[in-house]
Amino acid sequence: MFAGAMKDKPFASRLTLEKVSHDYSGLAVLRNLNLVVQPGEFVVLVGPSGCGKTTLLNLLSGHVLPVSGKVEREGVIRTVYQYDGLFPWLTVSENILMGLRDEQDKTRRNQELAALLELIYLQGFEKHYPHQLSGGMKQRVELARVLAGDSDILLMDEPFSALDYQTRLRMRAELVRLLENRPRTVVFVTHDIEEAAQLADRVLVLSNRPATICREFKIEAPKPRELADDAVIHAMKLILQELGLNAHAAL
Ligand SMILES: Nc1ncnc2c1ncn2[C@@H]1O[C@H](COP(=O)(O)OP(=O)(O)OP(=O)(O)O)[C@@H](O)[C@H]1O
Ligand SMILES: [Mg+2]
Repeated sequence: MFAGAMKDKPFASRLTLEKVSHDYSGLAVLRNLNLVVQPGEFVVLVGPSGCGKTTLLNLLSGHVLPVSGKVEREGVIRTVYQYDGLFPWLTVSENILMGLRDEQDKTRRNQELAALLELIYLQGFEKHYPHQLSGGMKQRVELARVLAGDSDILLMDEPFSALDYQTRLRMRAELVRLLENRPRTVVFVTHDIEEAAQLADRVLVLSNRPATICREFKIEAPKPRELADDAVIHAMKLILQELGLNAHAAL
């Protein structure tokens, strides 16, 4: 995975939602959503708390079935859950190894585990259990678990929200680098507009519940992007405006 050996591998990983609506016992959450995420595309979802972003990811992964409409997916999906996706009875290493269970070669498995532990700065914590870790450390283990092994699609629900600012910037850069080596289709939820502008090929702004896609922005600037890049600042302004926030106050 880290060597870039997969770079040119063709992969089928399109995600499609067609006229999808969902409600929970009468609570309307998503309304008539149409979305096609192309193979290799990095789509970021932003929108108010409770509007249905996690529900949308669950529909894409198949954990939730839509009340109406059609969901299609091609490829192996890995999900970073918003809350506690780790197995509490497994150690840090064992949790990450869950993502590597298809790797038969023990040496390669251990090499990848070591590289991932280094990536998330958790060498020395291999034998710790989730309850012995901070929120940010758990989030980093989640990240390693989904990046482990060979997947085509990453669904990431606020994966960096519990990290300190410096680690968050580093994780963003690492994610961009990893995707450069091994392209994957990504659907990424965040409340962090800066993160959206730095990572996305396309940002979808969702409305209040029941959510529809009220606006989308393509960001075509090459990656990695610096925060000070014109394209990043411009995208942040557009997203903030769409969310009804004051760009001048926020920047
Ligand atoms: N399993 C469930 N059963 C009943 N209602 C649910 C369930 N999951 C979510 N909801 C409701 O659906 C709505 C959307 O929730 P969801 O978690 O998708 O929002 P979100 O956009 O991810 O919010 P946040 O930004 O706070 O994470 C909320 O009103 C929530 O109360
Ligand atoms: Mg959520």
